[in-house]
Amino acid sequence: MRPNSSFHVLLGMAGRLLALAAVVSTPAAAASASAETTSATGPSWIEHLGRPYDASALGRVGALGPEQQDALLQAPAPTGGTWLREGFAVRGADLYRFTCRACHGAAGVGSPPEIRPLVDVVRTTSGELQQGGGTAAEVASRRAAAAEQLLRHRIAEGGPAMPAFDLTADEEEILLAYLERLASVPDPRHRDDTLQMPVDRVGERIVKGTCQICHAARAQAGRPAKDPSLVPLETMTSTAAVRPFLALARHQGKPSRAGRGPQLTYLRDAELEAAYFYLTAYPPK
Ligand code: HEC
Ligand code: HEC
Repeated sequence: MRPNSSFHVLLGMAGRLLALAAVVSTPAAAASASAETTSATGPSWIEHLGRPYDASALGRVGALGPEQQDALLQAPAPTGGTWLREGFAVRGADLYRFTCRACHGAAGVGSPPEIRPLVDVVRTTSGELQQGGGTAAEVASRRAAAAEQLLRHRIAEGGPAMPAFDLTADEEEILLAYLERLASVPDPRHRDDTLQMPVDRVGERIVKGTCQICHAARAQAGRPAKDPSLVPLETMTSTAAVRPFLALARHQGKPSRAGRGPQLTYLRDAELEAAYFYLTAYPPK
């Protein structure tokens, strides 16, 4: 018997429950789930950029101190498997951990010059901070609105060295609310709500926003991996059951190599289990 077969039973159960959840969900929840969950595809982000692993900070900054964000972790960690049925109660702070923190760090200051601080950009979206130095309120609020459009565009389209993120309107709203708090914007405009997100969507956000920075979806046919320790996402769930996967995903599982991959202690067990679930239910292509 394969060690992770009990997890597959859970997966089957979760699939039925997710289908049920889709039927009974409220209109607001339906809207938040409207972006379709899809398999991870293509090379890792550092491969895409042609950056050797050891010459880049991409994907590693989130695991470095200081740990400002950890005191703010909002959603109570789900226990006892209820998350499989109900999904996760996700705050903007959580979405930030899944999709931004790996590069921009807990404090949003990144690792200049490669990763520019995002907090400065977020502060330009504040009408209040745009005022002063003789700038009229009306001009300031026009500038702030334009700056916010640029920020939204940056998230949706990415940048020369930053991946694009396909967030739903609700996900973007709570993320912007968290960014305002992270950057200490004095006149925040976004709803700092809790969003109920299905398990597969949470797993997808984590894999695409964190793991795929370094790990390709699949082994590249005919092209030997530049760094063989960076196994593709497709083999992770077939070579490790979910428990060992948690340690491996925190890069603490193999003493001989530990220390090369980032120690992703800021992702909770249930969140990494959601990533495992997603990789199993949506095999990388
Ligand atoms: C794979 C790493 C990576 C991830 C993940 C990432 N970014 Fe970035 N980001 C970068 C890099 C590198 C730059 C600077 C280079 C560039 O412009 O592409 C940047 C630049 C930015 C800037 C512009 C900074 C400036 O001074 O112009 C903003 C704003 C930003 N990121 C926001 C975000 C948000 C919000 C998220 C999460 C939804 C995110 N980033 C996720 C790598 C990343
Ligand atoms: C900054 C790059 C980076 C990021 C981001 C990253 N990894 Fe890794 N990963 C590595 C490196 C380097 C190794 C090999 C060394 C080690 O295991 O520490 C590795 C090894 C692994 C292994 C062990 C594979 C094996 O069988 O030897 C697994 C599983 C894994 N990563 C999963 C994940 C998951 C899941 C995520 C996202 C939550 C993730 N990684 C994010 C760099 C990264």
